[in-house]
Amino acid sequence: MIRVLFVCLGNICRSPMAEAVFMHHVHAAGLASQIIADSAGTGHWHLGEPPHPGTMRILHARGIPYAHRARLITRHDLEHFDYILTMDEMNWQDVQELGPGRAKVMRLMEFAPHTGQTEVPDPYYSGRFEEVYHLVNEATQGLLEYIRREHGV
Ligand code: 4NP
Repeated sequence: MIRVLFVCLGNICRSPMAEAVFMHHVHAAGLASQIIADSAGTGHWHLGEPPHPGTMRILHARGIPYAHRARLITRHDLEHFDYILTMDEMNWQDVQELGPGRAKVMRLMEFAPHTGQTEVPDPYYSGRFEEVYHLVNEATQGLLEYIRREHGV
């Protein structure tokens, strides 16, 4: 099983959307028996909460099923997952500070260089959930292609 973890600050907006959209692509590719995903946050404010209504609205409008409760990333995740994808530089730094691990820690937007964006902007205050969807949709497709090449699946 190939394990993929998406990480943002609150684990209610960006990383849940990335997880859901990535798994949507995984299902469409017929790879759901080989690839699983989860998401986590680096901040504790929303632990146990469902995804933000802005994220759920986007997913619902596109027919992408999703359920999740916000949780914190732990050191165990660095061993358990094969890939950890961060949404912005602060998340990337926070994950580095957990210490070394087996997982490859990468910035999600590395997988969509054509967008010209290096981060997925936080929509919590801006409300720009459509922009988040556009970016994570592009980047999770690139990520899936990368994983398929690396694992020959
Ligand atoms: P997320 O968005 O990191 O994409 O889940 C945020 C959610 C909550 C907060 C910040 C960002 N907050 O400050 O509570």
